[in-house]
Amino acid sequence: MVTLPRARIMSGMRPTGRLHLGNYLGALENWVRLQDEYECFFSIVDWHALTTGYEDTSAIREDIREMAVDWLSAGLDPDRSTFYVQSRVKEVAELHLLLSMVTPVSWLERVPTYKDQLQQLAGKDINTYGFLGYPLLQTADIAIFKADFVPVGEDQLPHLELAREVVRRFNNFYGPVFPEPQAQLNQVTMLPGIDGRKMSKSYGNDIGLAATAEEIKGRVDLMITDPARIRKSDPGHPEVCTVHSFHGAFSREELPQIEADCRAGTIGCVQCKRNLAGRLQAAMAPLQERRRFYLENPGRVDEVLAAGSEKARRVAAATMNEVREAMKI
Ligand code: TRP
Ligand code: SF4
Repeated sequence: MVTLPRARIMSGMRPTGRLHLGNYLGALENWVRLQDEYECFFSIVDWHALTTGYEDTSAIREDIREMAVDWLSAGLDPDRSTFYVQSRVKEVAELHLLLSMVTPVSWLERVPTYKDQLQQLAGKDINTYGFLGYPLLQTADIAIFKADFVPVGEDQLPHLELAREVVRRFNNFYGPVFPEPQAQLNQVTMLPGIDGRKMSKSYGNDIGLAATAEEIKGRVDLMITDPARIRKSDPGHPEVCTVHSFHGAFSREELPQIEADCRAGTIGCVQCKRNLAGRLQAAMAPLQERRRFYLENPGRVDEVLAAGSEKARRVAAATMNEVREAMKI
């Protein structure tokens, strides 16, 4: 059997603390699926975390490990994909430097996320060279693996646009070294937090990827339902109910029945929550099992990161040989 070379995918996440169910459904679940079809490189981008978190770096090593465990528990498979720590692949820093030579400052200043973030993070001093260069560092991440596709959320499209422009400019000067990377939008299953707002750790309304069966039940019990329902027989409005949104993601087949029972007032919210908790617990069980394995075998996590980073480094080093050759340095 002939195996065709698979197209390459590269993506990354900043290690800024524990992931939640929204991160899983918004990104990780996609990545897990892509592993069969593509040659995948996934990076824990600790240098990117420094661009906004350079003042206090005390938790970063722990955050990297935690992210690795979250990824492993979600089903990223080190035998099928390469996942690694950005700062262990020094070639990325070299490429970032060389790309900086051909990148006009104005291109970085006009990336929409740049001005947005400066405003949003007004309490932090991110008027730094490193923060301005964030999307260029991301370009180096992607280009060094000659990635064809980059699975990301919509918010990352401006960064991908910059990456293509920079790569194009590099290729024009020195010859065609890099493919132009395309964004591949994650299929997102929209999931609110338990209070109905966007799920976010900073709102305290998330369900952690590491939540135990008990904790899952506790979070479901706290979910906001239709406030108009007082007695079980009151007709409900599933469209305003957080429990219903979760059923949409985790009980898709039963959804029409759930909606009908809710509207007819034949199911109570307590029962409906109990059903959801069961669904969620079942969906999360395989993740918990994998997590348990890595918590019991912490050495395996270090091995996975060491081997992945080594493999990533070999690929990156080969690209850098080509880059130096093309630039005649
Ligand atoms: N900027 C990305 C985010 O915040 C993270 C990231 C860094 C990334 N390097 C990358 C994503 C390379 C894709 C490819 O989500
Ligand atoms: Fe929400 Fe279910 Fe209660 Fe209807 S029955 S309001 S869907 S929890």
